[in-house]
Amino acid sequence: MNSGSGPIGIFDSGIGGLTVASSVHELLPHEALLYYGDTLHMPYGEKSQKSIEQYSLRIAEHLLEQGAKVLVIACNSASATASEAVRRLAGESVPVIDVINPAIRSLAKMKQDLRVGVIGTKATIRSQVYPDRISALLPAAQVKCLETPLLAPIVEEGLADGPISREVLRHYLGHPTIQDIDCLILACTHYPLLQSEVEAHYQGRVDVLDSAGLTAQAVQEALKITGTARKSDGHSAHRFLVSEHTAAFAENAQRFFGGDLQLEEARLRV
Ligand code: DGL
Repeated sequence: MNSGSGPIGIFDSGIGGLTVASSVHELLPHEALLYYGDTLHMPYGEKSQKSIEQYSLRIAEHLLEQGAKVLVIACNSASATASEAVRRLAGESVPVIDVINPAIRSLAKMKQDLRVGVIGTKATIRSQVYPDRISALLPAAQVKCLETPLLAPIVEEGLADGPISREVLRHYLGHPTIQDIDCLILACTHYPLLQSEVEAHYQGRVDVLDSAGLTAQAVQEALKITGTARKSDGHSAHRFLVSEHTAAFAENAQRFFGGDLQLEEARLRV
């Protein structure tokens, strides 16, 4: 039975989903988080739809077995390719929040002929999910998408904020495909860790949008609808699981959540 006492289950291929987890924690500090980083299979963006779906379903199953009352697919690659399968698995009583719908919904307030740039992994960009959904919402919008496959591994390796990430960003953001835009969607949950460098590149000329905060609001809404928000204001204990221990994951989890955080290695058979 879905009750307020269970944790919020969140997963990604690695540390990217921590950007979402941290926004969820900020908005809903009394909730316990159960995070799974599939570091063994990172990067998801290079995998086939079938593999991403298999990994996502196995993780979702594990989070549900651990009592998760909501599932957050904190990964665009998995949201683009596996969200329907995860929703079928979770059934009616456990809401599944992805990171794409909240970002798309936020565009509804924008001008009709918006010029949107989207950067993401190969899996996300090739799924066409962003142009399809943006055109359904804003038929006059121009959507310009670019695969930026080097960025997530750079972030995962702890190389954000340095000469390597700056050079790679300069290469991608200067690409002819994504020029003349009003707004850039960071369609990978690893990319907010590069946000300050992306903003420095545009010098205020382009709005940079990431979905972490919007996704946290969608989680809050889902808890309200299902009546499963935690009533108590007691201390919530988070758990962080990984399929393989990595120093970068440990450092980032520590950076986002501080404290005496223990990583648990949980290798799931797929
Ligand atoms: N953070 C993920 C995303 O939003 C995946 C990056 C990857 O593993 O390739 O797409």
